[in-house]
Amino acid sequence: MEKTLVLVKPDGVQRGLIGEIIKRLENRGLRLIGGKFLQVSRELAEEHYGIHKNKPFYESLLAYITSAPVMAMVWDGPNAVAAVRQTMGATRPTEAAPGSIRHDFALEIGKNLTHASDSVENGEKEVALWFSEDELIYWDQTIAPWVQE
Ligand code: RTP
Ligand code: MG
Repeated sequence: MEKTLVLVKPDGVQRGLIGEIIKRLENRGLRLIGGKFLQVSRELAEEHYGIHKNKPFYESLLAYITSAPVMAMVWDGPNAVAAVRQTMGATRPTEAAPGSIRHDFALEIGKNLTHASDSVENGEKEVALWFSEDELIYWDQTIAPWVQE
């Protein structure tokens, strides 16, 4: 079963989109196994976005992710990484597929509402960075047989 870290970024929180984003992931049949609402520290932001350290947008990205609280969640399910990236849409909202969150609610790359892990390996790493194992609940999702093959 794949795991993915999802963040509703500060703009998503400020715009009241936490519920909408959760609803779309629930609708997909994915399972929520962890969640916390937090103000991201500079230190956590630097670790999370370490891969972008040398990019021109790095400092503005850190300012963005620490600018207001985020809703951090872990979702799992078959093909969860690809499914959630698809539900979020392309990084640049004007390239995001119609029906995706970034298409439906965003306009600019620097205010693109969400984060989702981009590979199975990064999903594992990011979940371990944001959550301790005892914060994850592997509950019995009784609809699973109606969603999963
Ligand atoms: P995310 O990590 O947030 O899920 O987004 P992503 O994989 O689709 O995009 P990524 O390349 O990892 O970039 C991380 C975030 O940095 C901001 N960004 N700004 N100004 C720019 O050219 C630029 N490029 C990326 C976006 O907020 C993006 O989500
Ligand atoms: Mg990324």
